Amino acid sequence: MKKVVVTGAELGDLVDERGILAGVAEVVPMHAHNEDQLDERVLADADALMIFQTMRISEKTLRRLPKCRLIVRCGVGFDNVDYALARTLNIDVANVPDYGTEEVADSAIGLMLSLTRGINLLNLRLRDAATPWVYTHPAPLHRLRGRQYSVVGLGCIGTSAAMRAKALGMDVAFYDPYKADGFDKALGIRRVESLAELFATSFVVSMHCPLTVETRGMINATTLAQFARGSYLVNTSRGAVVDTSAIPDALASRHLAGAAIDVLEKEPPDANDPLLKAWRDPSHAAYERLILTAHCAFYSEEGLADMHRKGAEACRRALTGQTPRNIVNAAV
Ligand code: NAI
Repeated sequence: MKKVVVTGAELGDLVDERGILAGVAEVVPMHAHNEDQLDERVLADADALMIFQTMRISEKTLRRLPKCRLIVRCGVGFDNVDYALARTLNIDVANVPDYGTEEVADSAIGLMLSLTRGINLLNLRLRDAATPWVYTHPAPLHRLRGRQYSVVGLGCIGTSAAMRAKALGMDVAFYDPYKADGFDKALGIRRVESLAELFATSFVVSMHCPLTVETRGMINATTLAQFARGSYLVNTSRGAVVDTSAIPDALASRHLAGAAIDVLEKEPPDANDPLLKAWRDPSHAAYERLILTAHCAFYSEEGLADMHRKGAEACRRALTGQTPRNIVNAAV
């Protein structure tokens, strides 16, 4: 009997995995918080491996997987797996690209509305009994209809966010050099050829690209200076896409009117992280104008179930000789 090893910190009962893989493979749970806790003897027997968000798979683990033909990253971002090395070892790496598309897009739009409609600021400020009960605290707020909502990375989530922003009447533009011509027409949105051009005319910039060598640090002090004064930044992609140390100053000077950050380069962040310190400091603009969430844009109970189910289905396809889907290292 083949073996599918499912590893992570909180695995649940794996009932779906067992049902989907019945007759094909034994499901072997391996509780581990990080790569160092993976059991070498269990890995040696694995025909396929299912991993979740926080598990890094580097060379040392890849070289302990002599039988493994497939690693499924049960989620979208696969930057935690050395997928290029996996290719040279003849191991396919697949992701589960669609388990949380709508949730992340909903979260990105929710964060944008909390900032641009003053909801976060009012909710914080009105708690103090001495604060006047008036609408003017977040002034000036601006009508969203007609203002530019910019998507960086027009993939599944970026497209879903674009459609939602369109429904709000926003003027949706995108930057994605890898998207073929035609999507702009199909979706009724505008392509912008350069980031500098996109940033200069944006009211809201929403990040939806993967973390790659190209996108690491894409938003930093220099590129933030290219943003229109009084605009907003939302990042639900990957933490390292934004150099968050540049955000406190941009908020303090009001160059940025607000920012919402769901993902950080280090999760959880250190207590002395400049972004965290500014956000916790009642005398800093970030206290009211920055929203931080704990990499939870994807989360719904249904999405979690999809992650497990679709990960197991990918293993079943691979172990029964069907054409694999969502392989992310085919051409590396
Ligand atoms: P996707 O693969 O469908 O779309 C990514 C898009 O980014 C593609 O269209 C690609 O061409 C584009 N892209 C690549 N390099 C680019 C660059 N240099 N500049 C501009 N665009 C570029 O991925 P999907 O499903 O839309 O997810 C996007 C990202 O969201 C993921 O890579 C992941 O890191 C993040 N994510 C975050 C979650 C959260 O809970 N916060 C949950 C799920 C995904």
